[in-house]
Amino acid sequence: MKIILAGSAGFCFGVKRAAKLALDSSEKFHQICSLGPLIHSPQLVKKLEEKGVKVVERVEDLPEGAVIVRSHGLTAEEFARLSERDLTIVDATCPFVKKAQDYASQLSSQGYAVILVGEAEHPEVQGIVSYVAGSEVYVVADHEQAEKLPSRSKLGVIAQTTQSFKNLEQIVAVCLRKGKEVRVFNTICDATTVRQTEARDIARKVDLMLIIGGFNSANTSRLAKICQDIQPHSFHIETADQIHPEWFADVDSVGITAGASTPRWIIDQVLDRVQEMTK
Ligand code: F3S
Repeated sequence: MKIILAGSAGFCFGVKRAAKLALDSSEKFHQICSLGPLIHSPQLVKKLEEKGVKVVERVEDLPEGAVIVRSHGLTAEEFARLSERDLTIVDATCPFVKKAQDYASQLSSQGYAVILVGEAEHPEVQGIVSYVAGSEVYVVADHEQAEKLPSRSKLGVIAQTTQSFKNLEQIVAVCLRKGKEVRVFNTICDATTVRQTEARDIARKVDLMLIIGGFNSANTSRLAKICQDIQPHSFHIETADQIHPEWFADVDSVGITAGASTPRWIIDQVLDRVQEMTK
C-alpha cells in the first residue's frame, strides 16, 4: 500500500504561531482566555482548555487576566475596547493579516476608496474593513460584484489572505475600468494555494484521499471539496477514529492532507491508523 502525505499538511505559519503563543501563555498566566475559539480545530481548542485557556465570545465577558487575540485578528473597535480593560493582551493576529489591516488604513488615509476582495461575513474581512477610516470601503466577492462598483478617481485594492489569486486578478481587471488610478496590494498568503495545489496533485494519483481537519474549518472543507471533485473516494475526517476499514477495499494508494488548522498530532494518529489498517 502506497501512502502519500502532503508536505504542506497541517498548521500554516500564522496558526502555528498562535498555537505556540497560546500554549506558552497558558504556562505564564494564571487566568487566560481566547476571544472566540483560537483556531478551527475542536481537538486543539479542547487541549488548550485543559491547560486553562478558556474561550470567551465577547470582550465584555472577559475576566481579569490575559487574553489571546486569534490569528485572523479583531476589528479596530474590539481592539480599542480590549485596550480599555486592564488585561494583558497576547496578540496572535497573523502578521499577514496585520499587513492587510495596515494597507487598509494607509490607503484610506491617502484618499483611496478601498476595495477588499473577500467574504463580507468573515471575521478577518470585518477586521480589515474596520481599519478603513474616512474613506469608502467595498467588500467584493467576485468580478460580477465588482462590476457594480461606482467609478472613483482613486481605488485601492487589497484581499482577504485566503483568496485565490485568480479572483483578485479578475476583480483588479474590473477596477482598472472603474478607477482613474488603481493601487493594488497583493495581500494573499500562499498557505492556502500551496495546500490546494498539492492536494489536487495527490488526489489525481491515489485511489483514496483523506482530508483531516475541523468540520467547522472553511479551508479544510474547501480542500475536501477540491479532492472530492477529482477523486470521489475522498473523505473529510476530524480524527483517526472516524476512518472506516471498508474504505480501503480495492485501494492500492492513499493520499493524506490536512487543513491549515489541523495539529500535527492528529495527522500522525491518522497516519498510524492507516498504516495499521493497510498492513
Ligand atoms: Fe496567516 Fe496565511 Fe495562516 S494569513 S493564519 S499564514 S493562512
